[in-house]
This record gives sequence, structure tokens and C-alpha cells, in this order.
Amino acid sequence: MADQEAAPSAQTWTHRWTFVLAAAGSAIGLGNLWKFPYITGINGGGAFVLVYLVCIALVGIPIMMAETALGRHGRHSPINSMRELARESGASRWWGMVGWMGAFTGFLILSFYSVVAGWAIAYTLEMFAGVFQGMTPAEVGGNFESLLGDPVKLTIWHTVFMVMTGVVIARGIHKGLESSVRIMMPALFVLLLAVLGYSVVESGHFMEGVNFMFAFNPEDLSWDAVLAAMGHAFFTLSLGMCTIMAYGAYMPKKASISRTVGSVVVLDTFIALVAGLAIFPLVFANNMEPGGGPGLLFVTLTSAFANLPGGQIFGGIFFLLVVLAALSSSISLVEPTVAWVIERFPVSRAAATSVYCALVWLFGLGTVLSFNEWSGESAQIFGMTFFEFIDYLTANITLPLGGLLIAVFAGWTMKRSYIYKELNLSLGAFNLWRAMCRVIAPICVVVIFYFSTIEEPLMELLGMAGQ
Ligand code: PFF
Repeated sequence: MADQEAAPSAQTWTHRWTFVLAAAGSAIGLGNLWKFPYITGINGGGAFVLVYLVCIALVGIPIMMAETALGRHGRHSPINSMRELARESGASRWWGMVGWMGAFTGFLILSFYSVVAGWAIAYTLEMFAGVFQGMTPAEVGGNFESLLGDPVKLTIWHTVFMVMTGVVIARGIHKGLESSVRIMMPALFVLLLAVLGYSVVESGHFMEGVNFMFAFNPEDLSWDAVLAAMGHAFFTLSLGMCTIMAYGAYMPKKASISRTVGSVVVLDTFIALVAGLAIFPLVFANNMEPGGGPGLLFVTLTSAFANLPGGQIFGGIFFLLVVLAALSSSISLVEPTVAWVIERFPVSRAAATSVYCALVWLFGLGTVLSFNEWSGESAQIFGMTFFEFIDYLTANITLPLGGLLIAVFAGWTMKRSYIYKELNLSLGAFNLWRAMCRVIAPICVVVIFYFSTIEEPLMELLGMAGQ
């Protein structure tokens, strides 16, 4: 019991690999299995994938190392760690705002994440029950539409997923987080490889899928797509909102940050690419369009499973995989804030988790309604539904901004000797990392941000004005 109530500063993961598993669990989620394939599809494939990989290398890796190092040095919840680290380096206490912004972003992401994960729970059960067998794509599409059109059903699945998340978090670092990722992550690898094998054998269109993902067509690329690729690099690695910082706080002093971060990034990227390679050949096998948007998994892929031999079982396995991946990520969205609440107030982990999850659940009803009652134009925010707006705001704005501030803090503000000791790299490697945090990552974020959100819309506006 003491384990559950102790302040984060008193705890560490029981094994050095647990950090890798937990951080990979956070990174690998709906972002890899649902969002990456569909935004790759919308943005035309290969060119988008290449920019995404460049963003992972230039921005993702250095910032993930920075977040982990800040977390381990601070040893508290991100909000308190950031304030403490700033004080220790003689910087403004306003840096604590980075932790607050992370908590705010996590709240927003979880609110829609849980709704989408709820779809996956519904689909797991329906797949195994054989509901989709023999359905035409139009019927599968109709089924998805009717799920989205029913706020009560959506709310039920959203509630089930929030409760699952809350139960894991309330059980604490060891009994909840560690034990669950230890089972979920290996299961996830096995299930995904099974689905990939199935796609290679059954689709007959494997090379078409490979071509779609890796053929580079520069004309497919717009600044919007580049922003989406960068935003996704942050989203998929869980960066920019202090989640990795919260997990870093439980990391033993002896573990090597560069090696562990390297493993997490490789695992996350590998899973996203394998998911794409498993999904696109099945899409092409059914003569369907890869640019189907958020419905790619729930309509296009589901139609493929509905009409291929063994689709009932493999489809069920696939959606179970999506639920597990989503759960190991959602718990990481809750942990930083719950860690702060139990540090700050004399409340139990279970109480903090319940109140937090209830608030997120309530806000998530906005996403539920985005697909039905609030789908009309009158309920739109900047031309987007509530769900699209929250997704855009978090992935494309607050995560990159949070990441930028973390890079600047680690590269410029924090005392060099502290971060040097924490990272424990050779001098050359340290200088390279520092240059990435000080210059390269901030420039990438600012340039992409400028062109996609200021320059491109401005040119469009001027173009329209000139007509
Ligand atoms: N990385 C998760 C995914 O790819 O699904 C989403 C996520 C989890 C984003 C945790 C941010 C975060 F802090």
C-alpha cells in the first residue's frame, strides 16, 4: 500500500527495462495504429513518411533525451520538477508553466483518445462475434456511421475505456503501470506480427503497400503535410507534454538515457511502419482508397477483414491490439497530473485518479457529440468540429510548443554540468545533442510552424483576395 501513496520522488522502476517498456507503451498507441496510417494516406504516402522520419531523428530524439534527463534530475511530477530545476539553475519560476501546459495538453488529448479507443473496444467485440463477415464496404461504412451517430453508444465505450485507464493508474507505479506494460507490450508485438504475416500472405498486394509508403513524390508535399508530420512525431513519441519527464522521474540513476531513449524511438517507429505495411496491402487488396481519413481502420481495413478468409479472427486480434496499445498510452497521459496531485495534496492516488478521470470523461463528451449532435457547421470552431479542433490544437500547436520550450530549457537555461552528468555521454556526443536542442530542433519547429500556420494561409488569403 505504501507503494501507492508514496511521492514519486521515493520510487523507481524495478528494472531498467521497465522504463523502456513503459515509455514505449506510452509512445506506441492509437498514434501508430490509427493515426499514422490514416494521415499517411491523406498526405499521399512516401513523401510524408520521409518527413516524419526526419522529424523523429532531428527533433524527436534530442527532445526525448532532454525530457527524460529533466525528469530524472527533477525526480518529481513534471510541474514541480520544472519549477525546481529552474530554481536550481537560477532561472525564472515561470518555467513551471511548461509542466502546466503539459498537464493541460494531456487532459485534452486523453479526452478524445478515450473516445477513439472506445470505438476499438466496440470493434474488437463485433469482429470476434463475426458481425462484419461478408459485409460489403458500404455496409461496413454504414455500421461505422451508425456507431458515430449514436452518442449513447459512444459514451458507453468511452466510459469503459476511461474506467480501464483509471483502474491501472489507481493501482500505482508497480502494481498498475509496471505489471500492465509487462504483459501488454509483448502481447502487442506478437499480435502485430501476426497481422503483418496475415497481410503478406492474404492480401497479394504487399509490394503495392510498400510502394505507397516509401515512394518519394515531392509534389505530394505541402507545408500543411510537413506540419502534420512534425506534429505527429511529437504525438507518437509522447513528447512535449512532460509524459516522458514523468516516467523519467522513476528511472534509476544508473540506466543510460541515450540507450533507453534509442530503444523507445526504434520500437515506436518500427511499430508505426509495420502497422502501415500491414494495413495498406489489405486496403489495396480490396480496391479501396488509402486516403479515407479517420475511418481508415474502422471502414476500409474492417471491410478488408470482412471479406478475407480468417478475417474474423485476425480482425478481432487487430482491434484487441489497438485497445491494448491505447491503454498503455492513456495511462501515461494521466500519470503526470495524478503524480502532481498526490505530491501537492493529502489525497490518495485512487481519489486523485477518480476525480481526474471523471473530469476528462466529461470533457470527452465534446468529442462524442462532434460526430453527431455537434457535427453541423454551427457547432464548428475555425471550420473544424470540436474533436478535430482539439486534435489539431494539441498535435500541431501545444505539443510542438511544449517540445520547443523543453529543448530551449535543456539546451540554454539549465546548468550545463547538471544535464551533462545526467546524460552521461562522451563530450562529442553531448555537444551534438546540445546543438540539436539549442539550434536544430527549435529552428525546425519554428520554421515549420511559421510556414504552415502563417505563410501558407496568408498566401492562400492573398491569392483569394487577388481573384
Ligand atoms: N504516443 C501516443 C500514441 O502514439 O498514440 C499518444 C500520446 C500518449 C501522446 C501520451 C502524448 C502522450 F503524452
